[in-house]
Amino acid sequence: MSKFSYSRINSGLDAPDLTVNIAGVCLRNPVIAASGTFGYGREYAGLLDIAGLGGICTKGLSFEPRPGNEGCRLYETPSGLLNSIGLENPGISAFLERELPALRKLGPAVIANLSGSTIEEYVKGAELLNASAIDIIELNISCPNVKAGGMAFGLDAETAAVVTRAVRKAARAKPLMVKLSPNAPDLAAVAAACAKAGADALSLVNTFKGMAVDIHKRKPVFENVTAGLSGPAIRPIALRMVWEICRNIRIPVVGMGGIATAKDALEFLLAGAAAVQVGSATFARPPAMNEIIRGIEDYMKTYGFLELGELKI
Ligand SMILES: Cc1cc2nc3c(=O)[nH]c(=O)nc-3n(C[C@H](O)[C@H](O)[C@H](O)COP(=O)(O)O)c2cc1C
Repeated sequence: MSKFSYSRINSGLDAPDLTVNIAGVCLRNPVIAASGTFGYGREYAGLLDIAGLGGICTKGLSFEPRPGNEGCRLYETPSGLLNSIGLENPGISAFLERELPALRKLGPAVIANLSGSTIEEYVKGAELLNASAIDIIELNISCPNVKAGGMAFGLDAETAAVVTRAVRKAARAKPLMVKLSPNAPDLAAVAAACAKAGADALSLVNTFKGMAVDIHKRKPVFENVTAGLSGPAIRPIALRMVWEICRNIRIPVVGMGGIATAKDALEFLLAGAAAVQVGSATFARPPAMNEIIRGIEDYMKTYGFLELGELKI
C-alpha cells in the first residue's frame, strides 16, 4: 500500500497522467491498436475516436508487396480467433507514399510493423522506414503465418539477435521495439538477446500457433494447416509471459494478448507492462480501445494513482 496515498483516493483534485514514454516517444496514453487488426487507421474512420488512442501499429509491412494467403483466413474459436492472413500488404514504398500521410494526420503515434523473409529484406525495409516520418519500428519476428522468415526469426535467441542487430544498424534514427513470439521454447532467452542486440522496447505476445479441422471436408481449415490464435482465450498465458519478461528485462515491455476491457489492460499494466496493445477485441467492438482508456483513467482516479508507473505490482 506504499505506492499511493489514501488522501488522494476519490479526491477528484488530481487528474491522472496517462502519458507514457516508449523508447523516447511520448504516447498520450498506453493503449495502442495492435498490428494487423487496425489496417492503416483510415478503415476505422467514424467507428471510434481514433485521435484518442495512444498509438497505431500498422499491418505487417514487407519490402516487397505480398498478396497474403489463399483460402480461409479467419476462423472463430471459443473466446478466440484463428488467423492466417499471410502478411498481405502493399510493400513499404507504397505504404509510405499512399498510407502514411493520412495515418500521420490521425494523431496517435505511428508504429510501423516490419516483416521480412530474409535478413536482407528486413534491412532494406528498415532503411526505408528509417528515412520516413513513422515514430517507432515494431520488428515482427513472430508471424506464424508465412512460409519463409516471420516467426522463424523469433524462436531462437541467436537468430533473433542477428536480425535485431541488423535492423538496429539499418534504422539508427528510429526507436526499435521487437515483437516476440509466444511459440519460442525459451522466450526469456529471446527477450534478453533482443535487448542486448539493441532493442529499445519489446512487445509481446504475437499469436499462438493453432489449428482447426473441417470435419465435413475432412481436411484442415487453413491452407497452411496451422494459423495464429488470438483473443481472450490466450490472455492468461500472454499475461504470465509478459509478467515473466518484465521481471527480467529493463527496457519497456508492451503487453498484449486477449485484452478486451479496462480490467484486462490493467492486469497487464500491473504485471509490469508500460503500455498495451489491443487487437481482436476491436473487430468485435470498434470503440473497445476508447472504453479501455476511460476505464484505466477511472481506475487511477478511484485508487488515487497519478502516474501509470505507480501501477506496477
Ligand atoms: C487478423 C490478424 C492479423 C494480424 N496481423 C499481424 C501482423 O501483420 N503483424 C503482427 O506483428 N501481428 C499481427 N497480428 C497479431 C496481433 O497484433 C496481436 O499480437 C495478437 O492478435 C494478440 O492480440 P489480441 O489477442 O488482442 O488480438 C494479427 C492478428 C490478427 C487477429
